[in-house]
Amino acid sequence: MTRDLLCENVSVSEDGQHLLFAGQDTTTLAAQYGTPLYLMDEDRIRNCCRAYKTAVVAAFDGNAQVLYASKASSFKRIYEIMREEGMGVDVVSVGEMYTALKAGFPMSQAYFHSNNKTDADIAFAMEHGIGYFVVDNEEELFAIEREAAARGIRQSVLLRITPGIDPHTFEAVSTGKVDSKFGFAIETGAAEDILLKALAMPHVDIAGLHCHVGSQVFDAEVFLLTADVMLTFIAEMQTRHGFTTKLFDIGGGFGVRYLPSDPILDLHGCIAEIGDFMKTKAAALGITLPKISFEPGRSIVADAGMTLYTVGNVKCIPDFINYVSVDGGMTDNIRYALYTAPYTLFQANAMNHPHDMTCTVVGRCCESGDIIQPDVKLPSNIGRGDVVAVLTTGAYHYSMASNYNRLTRPPIVMLANGESYVAVRRETIDDLIALDVE
Ligand code: LLP
Repeated sequence: MTRDLLCENVSVSEDGQHLLFAGQDTTTLAAQYGTPLYLMDEDRIRNCCRAYKTAVVAAFDGNAQVLYASKASSFKRIYEIMREEGMGVDVVSVGEMYTALKAGFPMSQAYFHSNNKTDADIAFAMEHGIGYFVVDNEEELFAIEREAAARGIRQSVLLRITPGIDPHTFEAVSTGKVDSKFGFAIETGAAEDILLKALAMPHVDIAGLHCHVGSQVFDAEVFLLTADVMLTFIAEMQTRHGFTTKLFDIGGGFGVRYLPSDPILDLHGCIAEIGDFMKTKAAALGITLPKISFEPGRSIVADAGMTLYTVGNVKCIPDFINYVSVDGGMTDNIRYALYTAPYTLFQANAMNHPHDMTCTVVGRCCESGDIIQPDVKLPSNIGRGDVVAVLTTGAYHYSMASNYNRLTRPPIVMLANGESYVAVRRETIDDLIALDVE
């Protein structure tokens, strides 16, 4: 049976029975570490970082960098890996910053996002030498100026611009439209206005501009539209105000495969196309192309992740539905409940059994909406004790996990060079009451 296993790090054991991830037997890993279990393929993460770096260096003649949008998956080990791979990071909270700091990540290479940074957040970031703030609103800019003045420093910032591009993706994750809660729209004049205000501030250095338009993008087109609008704006600001943009961060958003029907992204080709377009456009506008940043999250970690569960029960309601209940759920994977996000699932200990029973895989939360995935195919004899694998769970799973129903969050086990190790330990029931005051 030839199946599309989505990513080159997923395979089947020689006897056809077991699902392998990064060459390791998932049923052995489930037995060793327990379930639910997040697995992460460290080699894949490193390869994704390197693929991006190689592509941007080639496309922009070295004048480009890659930042990992760490909201996709934030824990100490990932920041160590990013440091080792020479990546920058985007952080969105004191929590992410602190995790990065504790991992020894150089804060000078960190970009602080968020549409509502408190004064305390701003002070924390400056205290620890954050490289750049990505300014999202006017109040924040004034707060940065105040805090930088009090410290006698000049703080580098990027201004988050809203280019007004609809990336034709999920409404809930479209963040670059004019009506977005993020950033300053070009169309309304807000972008130019904030630039002028920032230029007048003695303790703020505008290093450049930022935008981010979407998620799950598989071709260059949306980036070309974005680059067109942004470079035109950059040229206008140069002509009208003599402002030179040194850095242009075009955000993240490249897609990954959740289903066999998803396309395979040609990352190198896409970035090359974006590079060619930007060089031509900059030349036509008569400006020097700024240094370019890409800020991928999902496409660095998503297919480096897999979740393993153990089946507890199977409930067949004849002529209606078959439920397969697993020992995790919306607490470790909220994405179907939140976005009706699609997934590919297998019975990891019976890859050679025909996956021919249509069923809905549900979690253990006391809530009907606790669905991992409806209408998937699993073997008809699946039952208690069997292992179910959900593919492509490396991005926005651990980072969006919760303790609803006081369930404990799974550990993250890293797979590297044929070995495995715990990067985040399993939460215990004592962790759950650790914050409850006696
Ligand atoms: N830069 C900025 C400013 C962003 O807001 C995001 C994602 C990224 C970069 C990274 O985008 P990526 O390469 O991961 O697509 N929780 C949702 C995704 C929310 C994305 C929010 N921003 C999900 O589970 O699909």
